[in-house]
Amino acid sequence: MARLEILEFPDPRLRTRAKPVETFDDDLRALVDNMLETMLAAHGIGLAATQVNRHIRVLVLDVSDDQTDPRVYINPRIVDEEGSRVCEEGCLSVPGIYANVQRAETVRVEAQDRNGVTFQEEVTGIHSVCLQHEMDHLEGKLFVDYLSPLKRQMVRKKLDKQRRQKLADQQKSPARPAP
Ligand code: NI
Repeated sequence: MARLEILEFPDPRLRTRAKPVETFDDDLRALVDNMLETMLAAHGIGLAATQVNRHIRVLVLDVSDDQTDPRVYINPRIVDEEGSRVCEEGCLSVPGIYANVQRAETVRVEAQDRNGVTFQEEVTGIHSVCLQHEMDHLEGKLFVDYLSPLKRQMVRKKLDKQRRQKLADQQKSPARPAP
């Protein structure tokens, strides 16, 4: 298994619309495993293939308290939804930024598992919010798109500042070469 690089806003590759998965092979299963490892290492609860620069309709999530319930959704589509809720969201591609987004409260999703077997599931609460957030990634959409242009501009500036700070910190204490 390997950890993958996570693209960050405003990287234009995050705007790519993902293609359906047609072949369920070992390469796909390796991608799923690497995505789960990458998500857990980054302390995330969801990750879409788009975020690791693979533009196919694959997403993983784990919304359990102790991160012991990994879920895989391939070619997901929402077949029914009910209610609405506003929830504070964050994103591994928009680090350190949180904002309220309105989503459906409960959704019925149809998807395939890593072997291509189709299943349906009804999810609610944080599981539902996370699923809808990750499905947006597959359309090239980010949660900051729900904010006003002014707020989105502020997010961009804050991320730029964070990156400059990180770079400055690295230059102050360069990593020692490994023996
Ligand atoms: Ni995200």
